Amino acid sequence: MMKRISALVIAGLTAVALTGCGTSSSSGGGTESGGGGGDDTIVMGFSQVGAESGWRTANTKSVQSAAEKSGITLRFSDAQQKQENQIKAIRSFVQQKVDIIAFSPVVESGWDTVLKEAQNAKIPVILTDRAVDSKDTTLYKTFLGSDFVEEGKKAGQWLVEEYKDAKDTVNIVELQGTTGSAPANDRKAGFAEVIAADPKFKIVASQTGDFTRAKGKEVMEAFLKSTPDIDVLYAHNDDMGLGAIEAIEGAGKVPGKDIKIITVDAVKDGMQALADGKINFIVECSPLLGPQLMDLAQKVIKGESIPARVVTEETTFTQEQAKAALPTREY
Ligand code: AHR
Repeated sequence: MMKRISALVIAGLTAVALTGCGTSSSSGGGTESGGGGGDDTIVMGFSQVGAESGWRTANTKSVQSAAEKSGITLRFSDAQQKQENQIKAIRSFVQQKVDIIAFSPVVESGWDTVLKEAQNAKIPVILTDRAVDSKDTTLYKTFLGSDFVEEGKKAGQWLVEEYKDAKDTVNIVELQGTTGSAPANDRKAGFAEVIAADPKFKIVASQTGDFTRAKGKEVMEAFLKSTPDIDVLYAHNDDMGLGAIEAIEGAGKVPGKDIKIITVDAVKDGMQALADGKINFIVECSPLLGPQLMDLAQKVIKGESIPARVVTEETTFTQEQAKAALPTREY
């Protein structure tokens, strides 16, 4: 745990360091959140991917409120979807001698050097939401998050069932998440593996929409112009699917009917579109990782053993299930 006096000095340093590298120390008016600032308070440096989607906003809220409830002081940094900002934030957390670092890596590759720096400084690291592809798994204590390959498989399984009686080719367009990110790589792979069982399924166009609504719309507009006879859209998250719905409607087609739509996440806006029949199926990806993250962090600091991998529990939604779930949906 950090000494009270150093915490005060460091609060100043945080503001300078994080502002200087294009990130922002949020979590309550530019100051750190949670904790009482006493000697026993755990200080966590958290590097978030950005604010690209409804999922991400819900994830940030979950982490911030769980830190508050657990009495953990959170130094929060928003990387604006740039790996270089995350690396700078992690280096800054190391300089500040925080007790623990947690981060959701924007892409899978390129983390070994900075993770080694944290390890040399004896600061434990927890991966949350997304994985890294480092061979050296001692560089982090655990990885808490979804099984993205499984999510892609669930999307593929729904499609195979939906078109089980179809004889003609099923033309699929795919909106991928951020290039190089674990959810984009894994959701693509899981989906491709399942649909490969039947050659009638053809991915006729596949491009990144960077997990944002605006990009989803833009890329779908291009797909609609370049690719005739689209039967199905598989979007790696709700936001891109929602942007694509605007493009489909703009092209005079009916989303959910002329083009069937499968997305991942199950945030409220996506669930509403599913209930309205504009999306046909959603694979859930839960952003509510905060409580488990804080629990794991406390255990690591106490020296207790924790599992190397903690997989989030998730489900899927049809239109009827979305209607039933919407009134109590948390995010
Ligand atoms: O890493 C989780 C993914 O990132 C979510 O599916 C997506 O919405 C977000 O931007």
